[in-house]
Amino acid sequence: MRIIESGDGLAIHIAKWKKDGKTIGFVPTMGFLHEGHLALMKMAHQHSDKVVTSIFVNPRQFGPEEDLDKYPRDIERDTQLARNENIDILFIPTQDVMYPPGYQTTISVPYLAKPLCGKSRPVHFDGVATVVTKLFNLVQPDVAVFGEKDYQQLALIRQMVRDLNFKIQIVGHPIVREPDGLAMSSRNKYLNAEEREDALSLSRGLQHARDRVIEKKELPADALIAEVREIISAPQSCRIDYVEIVDSVSLAAKQKAQRGDVLAVAAFFNEKVRLIDNTIL
Ligand code: PAJ
Repeated sequence: MRIIESGDGLAIHIAKWKKDGKTIGFVPTMGFLHEGHLALMKMAHQHSDKVVTSIFVNPRQFGPEEDLDKYPRDIERDTQLARNENIDILFIPTQDVMYPPGYQTTISVPYLAKPLCGKSRPVHFDGVATVVTKLFNLVQPDVAVFGEKDYQQLALIRQMVRDLNFKIQIVGHPIVREPDGLAMSSRNKYLNAEEREDALSLSRGLQHARDRVIEKKELPADALIAEVREIISAPQSCRIDYVEIVDSVSLAAKQKAQRGDVLAVAAFFNEKVRLIDNTIL
């Protein structure tokens, strides 16, 4: 595995692979890798000859009050994990490579960036769209793998790829969970034992909604949301950011909850950790 920090260094290898007719798979991350990230890498191997993973904690997708400074980092461990997954290139660009002095351009996918996480994180998705565009241009992948854990992000990237004519196949990977149901996240590290237990209310709420839709086929979204809110907010430490049922492509709020809709949730635990989760009903 090669570790590359500069765009020029990356370009040499990409050009060679392209010349040799190799296809390139790409998994962008912010590091502090866990089994969810590693599953995306395995999937990238299934779709391509060579796999590039990036680690870049992108300041533009963090709001001023958010956890940029304390976002967990462990490059040595990440390097070993990426090596174990037979990653061909681990791209770890510096701030200057991604945003050199005088950098100006922003990519925005305004409608898909508005609902759900966009309400409490107004700059987040412009930051994501911008960095992913830059990474796509640097890596020039044929296939890029993203997790359904960040459902809104995946929907927005699919839209951006269509809108901007990127010749990249976007592959979604199902959410990877701990055995007890908690969705894997780099931010789970911030939970103490009690908060981690409390955070299981998220997956419990999602499971309840899935069961209800199987049972009823169709039911008023607001009633189902109320039931899910009650389950999720049962632990004292929990404060809900949102619980919404949306169309799986447009992310528009649904009146009636049906199979195929997406139930998306975000909640704070003890005001210090914000977790997201979702399920396709
Ligand atoms: P990060 O949170 O590190 O996640 C990198 C990728 O891993 C994303 O596609 C995310 O959806 C996926 N992922 C994280 N946890 C997962 C889980 N439990 N199951 C399945 N997939 C999971 O998402 C980002 O970084 C950034 O926004 C990025 C796209 C790299 C742009 O900066």
